[in-house]
Amino acid sequence: MKDFPPVSIADERIPDDPIPEPTPTPTEPTLIFNPESLIDRFDLERLYAKQQPLEVELGSGDGSFLAGYADSRPASNFMGVERLLGRLRKLDRKGLRLGLTNLRLFRIEASYLVEYMLPRQSASAIHIYFPDPWPKRRHRKNRLVTEAFVESVARALQPGGMLYLRTDDADYFQQMIKFCGASPLFSEESTPADLAEHLTDFERSFHARGIATLSAAYRSLVAP
Ligand SMILES: C[S@@+](CC[C@H](N)C(=O)[O-])C[C@H]1O[C@@H](n2cnc3c(N)ncnc32)[C@H](O)[C@@H]1O
Repeated sequence: MKDFPPVSIADERIPDDPIPEPTPTPTEPTLIFNPESLIDRFDLERLYAKQQPLEVELGSGDGSFLAGYADSRPASNFMGVERLLGRLRKLDRKGLRLGLTNLRLFRIEASYLVEYMLPRQSASAIHIYFPDPWPKRRHRKNRLVTEAFVESVARALQPGGMLYLRTDDADYFQQMIKFCGASPLFSEESTPADLAEHLTDFERSFHARGIATLSAAYRSLVAP
């Protein structure tokens, strides 16, 4: 059998040689956060400077709605959730330009966040605007707003909290109102005018092309 030279595991630093501290890398200011754990619920007190009502936008895209809306409501905290980093960074830049201290951004899959990371009954509102429509019948299983998701949203909302929906896809809209409208967990309301006037990037683009959009609002009645 071939002999291998013994492997030395001796520590060649002299005994009092301190372990060098890693050089801190300068960090750019950002509203994007990376939680310590992806399996624990957020500690909202650590996330925001002020403890005030929390509103969450799922699939915030380039973020014109959320940046403008958070700017107009300093007495609430906001969380933008988006799976595409490039889009989240655009919203980050908008929020930083506005000097927002009530907005934090998180890159993650929206239904996972709602079910596993948002504390139960923590949100005063959840906004879902123009979620990917998945128009082909065989792709509809990929839609965000499903019956199970709506129950998950009801668990994340405070009793009396609001779910706001907008879409340009008539079939998806029917699915949304079927699951929310038929649910004993929600009652239908109208979208407040001061919220409806904050348009999203996709909404602006649809309106510019003459494409009609639909909206609905539901109040959470009880936590399941
Ligand atoms: C059609 S865009 C609408 C963006 C924005 N709400 C608007 O109205 O301008 C849908 C956005 O949701 C994001 N998205 C889709 N499914 C998602 C999911 N499951 N979790 C997180 N983000 C998602 C997409 O990356 C995209 O930015």
